[in-house]
Amino acid sequence: MPRLWRLTLTGLKRYDGTMALSDKYGREIRDLRLSLTDRCNFRCFYCLPTGKPALARKETILTFEEIFRVSSIFVSLGIEKIRLTGGEPLIRRDVPLLVEKLATLKPQLKDIALTTNGYDFPRFAEALKQAGLDRVTLSLDSLRRERFKEITGVDALDRALAAIDAAKSLGFEPVKVNAVIVRGRNDDELADFARFARERDVTMRFIEFMPLDSEQSWTREAMVSGAEMRDRISEVFPLELKETKRGAGTSWKYAFADGAPGGIGIIAPVTDMFCGQCSRVRLTADGQIRTCLFSEREHDLRSLLRSGADDEQIVAFIESCVYQKEASHRINDPDFVQPLRTMSFIGG
Ligand code: 5AD
Ligand code: SF4
Repeated sequence: MPRLWRLTLTGLKRYDGTMALSDKYGREIRDLRLSLTDRCNFRCFYCLPTGKPALARKETILTFEEIFRVSSIFVSLGIEKIRLTGGEPLIRRDVPLLVEKLATLKPQLKDIALTTNGYDFPRFAEALKQAGLDRVTLSLDSLRRERFKEITGVDALDRALAAIDAAKSLGFEPVKVNAVIVRGRNDDELADFARFARERDVTMRFIEFMPLDSEQSWTREAMVSGAEMRDRISEVFPLELKETKRGAGTSWKYAFADGAPGGIGIIAPVTDMFCGQCSRVRLTADGQIRTCLFSEREHDLRSLLRSGADDEQIVAFIESCVYQKEASHRINDPDFVQPLRTMSFIGG
């Protein structure tokens, strides 16, 4: 374990669970997102429609032992929340075993979450719950069978719905359901999704389409802004802002004004940027630290890990990466360059 007191780039720090990693803008980093694999069994058009670019080679993917070691170091540096993502994380074998290992880092680690497309979730739901998974976020981009298939490439609406039911019945709370809203593809379902949230008592979260797709097909016209989404839902189901602060820094949370169960979250990274409150750092499946979804460079933690570095060296490396975290994404700048890695590599 690293020493408790350390002289860091941002001053002398005591890592006792109250101090956090921080960057040069003073943002505390509390949230680690681990991509377990860059592979996916879906082909969502806004992410990985062809299954390419070429996948990372197997030997470059971090083992669960490596992931656990890195996680325990991150937790000793004040990380409180770990989210397992992908690609589709449940494609990796034995994810419940990894969750069980990570759960040994509680209570400093407060929260273990999973983002999944739901296809394999019902099969593993109970084991994941028992292993110590706290929360799950599922994807659902259409409530219509044919359209679900067009968007994701897989005829699996029934499985996505079964996953939501499984999460509810096992008591994961809250169950969050993500939909990326794209004009002309599924924006006509906004009210249907809201009705679904009320009927199933889940939080539907609508995400602005971001330029992170492998085919670089993103256009500003295709993106539906958070404000437009909110207004279009409110016309059918009036909404009340629940908190004046953004939940976890990213979503505006709304309740239904008539008191119906369920809720709405609006995530508007493009038109209503939240980078100033960002508390996240990411680790790709092949062991690269990314300090932003839109980072233009990565930091090669894998090579350091595999060179036999001790914990102290890894701590110093992580601190220096985090210190360099970008001030914000630059999607709205005229010279914005879309990152080469898609969401399937980076992890949402
Ligand atoms: N824009 C917005 N959200 C995206 N996701 C994947 N690609 C994009 C994109 N281009 C979302 C998925 C999932 C989460 C992991 O990231 O829908 O909810
Ligand atoms: Fe797979 Fe998720 Fe990307 Fe869809 S958004 S292709 S489910 S990783």
